[in-house]
Amino acid sequence: MKTIEIEGIELAVEDRGEGPPVMLLHGFPLNHSMWSAQVERLVAGHRVIAPDLRGFGGSTVTPGAVTMDRYADDVGAMLEALEVTEPVVFCGFSMGGYVAFSFWRRYRSRVRAYVLADTRAMGDTPDSARDRLKTAQQAMADGPETVAKALLPKLFSKGTLKGKPEVVEAARQMILSSDPAGIAAALRGMAARADSRPLLNQITVPTLLIVGVDDAITPPDEMLGMAELMRQAEVVEVPNAGHLTPMENPEAFNDALVKFLDRI
Ligand code: MLT
Repeated sequence: MKTIEIEGIELAVEDRGEGPPVMLLHGFPLNHSMWSAQVERLVAGHRVIAPDLRGFGGSTVTPGAVTMDRYADDVGAMLEALEVTEPVVFCGFSMGGYVAFSFWRRYRSRVRAYVLADTRAMGDTPDSARDRLKTAQQAMADGPETVAKALLPKLFSKGTLKGKPEVVEAARQMILSSDPAGIAAALRGMAARADSRPLLNQITVPTLLIVGVDDAITPPDEMLGMAELMRQAEVVEVPNAGHLTPMENPEAFNDALVKFLDRI
């Protein structure tokens, strides 16, 4: 891992391989290691950049709220620091997808293509925003265990929960290693995020949407609806996966990803 200093904080990033750059943006409340199967597959032909977003993994925790725009600015600054000048393929999983939308608003000329995995364009409803703020308080009071307990059953398909305990355990450990203040800051940021639906038909780069067929958080129907509003989007539905598709069925996820990267 490299450590990059940006505006007085440190951001940890895995930066490996050579070739066209691919940036992997993790979901909530995880870190870059959710992408380990993708990094291993891509590294032979690409420069793979997988950061820990502010507040997660080895990156500095900043209190309060971290907005999706703040994460996007961090990613922009990271590309500068890593001297990546050519346009980048952004692969954003769930919250990483929200960051990818913010990145388009602010730095679209730096985007070569998008892979949006198990994510949504819509902002929070008032109810879901309220729930997030409550969860932020709980995380601060009780620690990440409470978040892990509530979230883990929703992240996976029934098949993964029953048949792949090592995958569930890896996600649990990632959540437990997250700082409560980092978790709370992301929740507050997600609660305040913009509705990105108006952006969908302005995204002019090739886009691949990937979703687990049993995703209960961002279901396939919602992602198919997103694709219809986009100019150049295709959807791949991955079997034997719920929300955490890159970890639950990495073979199918990687096949879709690599085919797309080879084509663009
Ligand atoms: C994620 O996986 O990043 C979360 O499900 C995003 C969210 O809570 O909206």
